Amino acid sequence: MQDSINKIKINALLEIEKANDSKRLDEIRIQFLGKKGELTGILKTLGSLSADERPKIGAIVNTVRNEIENELNRALDKIKGYELNKQFENEKIDITLKGRAPFTGTRHPLRVIFDDMEEIFLGMGFTIAEGPEIENDYYNFEALNIPASHPARDAQDTLYFDNNLLLRTHTSPVQIRTMEKMNPDPIRAIFPGRVYRRDTIDATHSPQFHQVEGLIVDKNVKFSDLIGVLELFVKKMFGEDRKIRLRPGFFPFTEPSAEVDVSCIMCGGKGCGVCKNSGWLEILGSGTVHPNVLKYGGYDPEIFTGYAFGMGVDRIAMLKYRIPDIRLLYENDIRFLHQFR
Ligand code: PHE
Repeated sequence: MQDSINKIKINALLEIEKANDSKRLDEIRIQFLGKKGELTGILKTLGSLSADERPKIGAIVNTVRNEIENELNRALDKIKGYELNKQFENEKIDITLKGRAPFTGTRHPLRVIFDDMEEIFLGMGFTIAEGPEIENDYYNFEALNIPASHPARDAQDTLYFDNNLLLRTHTSPVQIRTMEKMNPDPIRAIFPGRVYRRDTIDATHSPQFHQVEGLIVDKNVKFSDLIGVLELFVKKMFGEDRKIRLRPGFFPFTEPSAEVDVSCIMCGGKGCGVCKNSGWLEILGSGTVHPNVLKYGGYDPEIFTGYAFGMGVDRIAMLKYRIPDIRLLYENDIRFLHQFR
């Protein structure tokens, strides 16, 4: 009897040792300790034993039962821990997988140029102001000393709503509006904005384009102050070794007037296709504010001097980024715009 109990014990322990999941341990529990189990089977035969053997064998069976029970529990603990780890492993989310990059927008090339210009002039102590795109004859022409007979007033150039209202043809009317607001205080300001002209669209013309205007009004300012401002602007905008060149020009609202060229931003002045072998690129108009214009703005030309300049933003963007056709700036083709990240 003791032998078969021992065999059951050894068998049970061996099976427990081999088991590698909790389901198998349950089966072993039933096989050895269940109601119809092997050890229970022994207990059922106790009745046939002698009175002094019965408690002895009964005690042995109980000890073995406890041993198997303990062994099962120990194995179960171990396997449960292992199974839990395995479950964690299976349910783990792989956060190392790379996401898809979101589609990001970009600044429009004109906006990039505007931002650069604004930053440069803010750095020189200028403020920024804006005026309306729908102007009247007074601000766009008359107060800028542009007489009624001047060709700039021609319906060929200007988009009119009626005899008086028009789409501004330049940002210069903001000079007058700013002087009206500021006089008799000194002015150092730029006026970025959109302007309109009755032009037929082609690679270099658009009926709407952009300008940045500049105005300095103060006592004791000299033409050399204007040149200094423009020289610094050109170096910051196009590179430290760029030079400027002034040629006589004509604008009704400045006297004297100067056209300002920058040494070619492509070839540096040696001559290339972009500068048509001249080594220079015309980028802005400028001059001393005409006394009549100062008067319209409420400043006494005997006391105050003004300097003004104006430049085309589209042209500068096209030169700087080698954009061959102005229409690219207005068609919003994403393949074009995405080059300006
Ligand atoms: N308004 C002029 C233009 O549109 C540019 C300019 C501005 C010239 C200020 C001189 C002074 O061409």
